[in-house]
Amino acid sequence: MKNQIRVYAPATVANVACGFDILGFAVAAPGDEVVLRKRNQPGIVITKITGEQGQLPIEPEKNTAGVSVLQLLQHLGEQQGFEIELHKKMPLGSGLGSSAASSVASVFAANELLGNPLSREALLPFALEGERVACGAAHADNAAPALYGGFVLIRSYDPLDVIRIPTPKTLHCTLIHPHIEVRTEDARKILKKEILFKDAIVQWGNIAGLIAGLMLPDYELIRRSLQDVIIEPVRSILIPHFQETKQAALESGALGCSISGSGPSMFALSLSLRTAQKVGDAMQKCLENIEIESDVYISKINQEGPRILADGAA
Ligand code: HSE
Repeated sequence: MKNQIRVYAPATVANVACGFDILGFAVAAPGDEVVLRKRNQPGIVITKITGEQGQLPIEPEKNTAGVSVLQLLQHLGEQQGFEIELHKKMPLGSGLGSSAASSVASVFAANELLGNPLSREALLPFALEGERVACGAAHADNAAPALYGGFVLIRSYDPLDVIRIPTPKTLHCTLIHPHIEVRTEDARKILKKEILFKDAIVQWGNIAGLIAGLMLPDYELIRRSLQDVIIEPVRSILIPHFQETKQAALESGALGCSISGSGPSMFALSLSLRTAQKVGDAMQKCLENIEIESDVYISKINQEGPRILADGAA
């Protein structure tokens, strides 16, 4: 019987331009790691958090990883307790799905140590409790792709209806993280409560086009559909040099470019590794011009989701 496990869960790009709260995909890196260890008493103890300069709460019910596992245990009526170590390998408030990576890694790890009582898909509602604690909204467009891998569509929240969308093989993602912080909660508050009917029609067309483009696959259709007329115009004001950086990505051959999740990270999709690298260089140069440092991550779409790094007897 396994007593401890170390699990990696990936960063994710939520919204994917036109799919606010309903579409996301996973990347290869960065990602968070958790170590879960069985303990002899019931309940959860967070024993260590690294990589976040003391910004995250250690109390399990306030911590995304802790609360997700607590909810899972409660649902299962399980008395087994766990110690959790959380190793943050990506910045908070980055738009990279940092909280989802932590909650997905921890529920996946707990389910493994309990002998997999639930399917991977059935873990999603517990990971979403982590999102609720992190930003006040249980949006699934980071947690679902972090858990399932690939592109994931949340067709409905009530009831939860989550669909994996096939990924064209040649797609590469460039992610750039400017060294500034935008809290998801704040980036949600500034959104308009009402939108124009004509904008909704454009957005519906684009999200349907993007899904069709991914499934066919049709790269020109993907290119035409990677447009966001509702969220990006509002949120881009939080990202210095957004338009110039986006323009640099498009001029370097990206199919499309927009805000990753609630920002400030930006993503671009390209048809080859070479183009994705060129796009990353151009975007980074653009931010350097205004003296903003950034990290660039380039990868194919991650089809795997969480990964067991090590397991065994404690
Ligand atoms: N859909 C969410 C938002 C993703 O844009 O607020 C947050 O990462």
